[in-house]
Amino acid sequence: MNGKRPVAGPVWYVSVGLVLAIPLAAAADMHEMMRSRVPDDKLQEARALRSPLPDSPDVIEKGKALYQGKGTCMNCHGPEGGGDGPVAAALNPSPRNFQHHGFWRHRTEGEIFWVVKHGSPGTAMIGFGDQLTDEEIWSIIRYEQTFAAGHGGHHGMQGGGMGGHRGMGGQGRMGMGAE
Ligand code: HEC
Repeated sequence: MNGKRPVAGPVWYVSVGLVLAIPLAAAADMHEMMRSRVPDDKLQEARALRSPLPDSPDVIEKGKALYQGKGTCMNCHGPEGGGDGPVAAALNPSPRNFQHHGFWRHRTEGEIFWVVKHGSPGTAMIGFGDQLTDEEIWSIIRYEQTFAAGHGGHHGMQGGGMGGHRGMGGQGRMGMGAE
């Protein structure tokens, strides 16, 4: 086989195109993140899903163990959920950064559950529905939500308002180094 082909087209034209494309690409990335990964025909069903689990320290603890262990989420999404796990650099698209508040604002928990269970086709994010039970997935999601909370974002909206405060509350979940 003779694979050589002449290079076609004026090179300067390509370079100008590249310079213009950089800011556009950043905007496109942002836009790309906002796009729901749930297929259109499943969106309604996914958005109707609600976590059966409370946002409590023991659920979060269980989710953390699954995130780091059996679920292998940490390999791609990173120990602090920054989308920077050991395998992340090799992946395109990149694993989601859970510290990003925009991500949580643009998804319902039901959509997130759906993607963890069924995957995002064409990406390294496979569906975990045959490896994790629904309850395990929900507990991991509770844990993932803490990544954004620990980075100066708003908190208090979780749980959908079950009618009031929780006793003494607190529990030191936000505390530095409180495992
Ligand atoms: C092999 C690498 C890999 C592993 C392991 C992995 N993920 Fe992902 N994950 C990705 C990639 C890549 C994306 C981005 C997919 C996309 O852009 O559509 C992603 C996206 C996501 C999203 C965002 C979905 C959305 O709506 O945008 C969630 C939530 C998520 N992963 C949760 C998990 C959980 C929970 C686990 C463990 C049970 C896990 N991931 C394990 C690579 C991985």
